[in-house]
This record gives sequence, C-alpha cells and structure tokens, in this order.
Amino acid sequence: MPPPTQDQATKLRELVLDKNETMRSRITGMKSVAILSGKGGVGKSNLAVNLALALAGQGLRVALLDADLGLANIDILFGVVPKYNLGHVLRGEKELSEILFRVGERLTIIPGGAGLREMADLDEQRQHWMIDRLSFLENDTDVLLLDTSAGLHKNVLAFALASDLTVLVTTPEPTAIRDSYSVLKSLWQATKGDINVGLVVNMVSDRNEGEMVADRIISASGQFLGFKAPYLGCVLWDAALRDSVRKRRPLLLDNLDSVSVPYFKELAGKISESQNEVASGAPVLQRGSFLRRLVKQMFKREA
Ligand SMILES: Nc1ncnc2c1ncn2[C@@H]1O[C@H](COP(=O)(O)OP(=O)(O)OP(=O)(O)O)[C@@H](O)[C@H]1O
Ligand SMILES: [Mg+2]
Repeated sequence: MPPPTQDQATKLRELVLDKNETMRSRITGMKSVAILSGKGGVGKSNLAVNLALALAGQGLRVALLDADLGLANIDILFGVVPKYNLGHVLRGEKELSEILFRVGERLTIIPGGAGLREMADLDEQRQHWMIDRLSFLENDTDVLLLDTSAGLHKNVLAFALASDLTVLVTTPEPTAIRDSYSVLKSLWQATKGDINVGLVVNMVSDRNEGEMVADRIISASGQFLGFKAPYLGCVLWDAALRDSVRKRRPLLLDNLDSVSVPYFKELAGKISESQNEVASGAPVLQRGSFLRRLVKQMFKREA
C-alpha cells in the first residue's frame, strides 16, 4: 500500500482527534476506578499501568494513583524514583505539582506512599484543606486509576467504596479465584450490594480460560450473594510483560506488538464504556467528589 498523501494524513489525524474529543466529551466529570485483588501478585500494578497508558492513548486524561500503602509499585514499573509523595503535600512541605510526574501529555502519576494513610488521621479542617489542594486533579482528569494492595484491609475497602468502579483482578490459579470471591463477598456485604464491581482475569492462556474463571466466580456470587458481577475481560499471559517489568518500561510504552496489548486496549475500552454508563446514571452522578468520598470512608473506618 502506498504511504498516505499529505491530505490523507491530515484526514487521519482529524479522525483520531475527533474520536478522542468524542470519547472525552462522553465522560462527564472525573471517574475513579480502583484496582483490587484478593491474592497478591495477580498483576494489579501492571494492569493499572498499562490500562492507564491505553486510556491515555484513547485521548483521555488519566491520573494513576499509587494507592498501595505497603510497597510503592508504579514508580518501579516506570523506572523512576520519586523523592516525594502525598505525605509531603499533606505536611505542607511540597506542593502537589512538585510530587507528580507526567508520562506523555495525558498521563499523570501520583505517588501516594504513606501520605494516603496519613490522610485518614487528619482532623476535619486539615482534611478539607487537603481536599482543596487535590481538587484541581478532579477538574483536569477524566479517569483516576488506583492501584491498591492485595486483600481487603480497611484502606483498600475505603478506596473501593469511594470509587465509581472497582476492578477485581484474579488469575486462573485456584487460590486467586477463592480469594477474589471472598473480596467480592466482603465488598457486597460492606455495601449491601451498592457497589459497581467488574472482574478481570489476568495471565490466561486464551479467552476461553478467562471466561471459565469468571464464570466460576460469577456463578458462586449468583448462588450465594444473589448477584452477578459483570465480567470485564482478560489479559493473556505474556513473556514480554515480564520483560517490561525487568526493563522498567511499561509494555504499552514501546512494545505494542506483544500478545497482551490488544487485551489491555480492549479492557480500557470496556472501562471507559462502563464509565459512560456510570455517568448516565443519576445516583452515581450525585455522589460528588471522589476525594470527599474517600476521606469520609477512611474516617468512617478509623472510627
Ligand atoms: N499478563 C501477564 N503475563 C505474564 N506475567 C504477568 C502478567 N501480569 C503480571 N505478570 C507478572 O506478575 C508479577 C506480579 O505483577 P504485579 O506486580 O502487577 O502484581 P500485583 O497484583 O500488583 O502484586 P502486589 O499484590 O504485590 O501489588 C510481575 O512479575 C509481572 O511481571
Ligand atoms: Mg502491586
């Protein structure tokens, strides 16, 4: 095929821009997506990073918050060593703009570190001060992704309850399936069913395996909890993803030919779609600021 002419190239660009603008205008207000798992090591951080890049590639402005209160993961995957985190902002030592780092035009990484835990210990006046400092994020971001630590301890629960969507990640391993079901059950019980949660199966050998694993969780939740969590999709086991971790260069930054890439893109599409559905539902629209909800949830759990 001959290379596109100048004219065709301009048209192509316009098409892409149009698509991006449409995508952005369909999402109203910042939507927050918490990535959770029962068992550790199922691929949450890698999913968060590559989904963030895929969503940014769709034209959305994405913020990725490292909300793993134990070990920071995101910066390692990007091969950077941030000196400061939200804790420094909280203590008034740094401005938020000084702790963020940007990847390309549309992706911002927020090192959370211990700062997020400290947020729960603030008095109400300081919490509001902090929320004000962070609120510009909500205006400048279409999707906020939160990478959390495994299990459902109280801070992770607060992230899930404050978010518009919870993505529960498992692998085909029986222990991971069992643990993800127990997280699903706890989430369901904690919210009396008022939670928007979807399943992702990582490290599958093919789509069929992803569906089978999801089916097991969905039928157990249908039988014992009386609800069926939607299946968002799967990601193939990919040696190139392992390499990307070793190289500290996320897959979607420069290895676009590898087998798992279309799966990340597909999931990103599903997530922005489900966010649109969220945006069109009145009850969720009235939920207000994610940060306010988060602080409220953390505060509740401290009490
Ligand atoms: N689709 C995949 N194919 C192959 N390897 C994968 C895939 N997804 C993740 N991994 C590997 O699994 C390991 C764990 O991934 P990751 O750190 O993202 O998990 P996690 O759920 O964030 O772990 P933790 O619970 O410790 O935060 C990494 O070494 C990564 O390379
Ligand atoms: Mg992690």
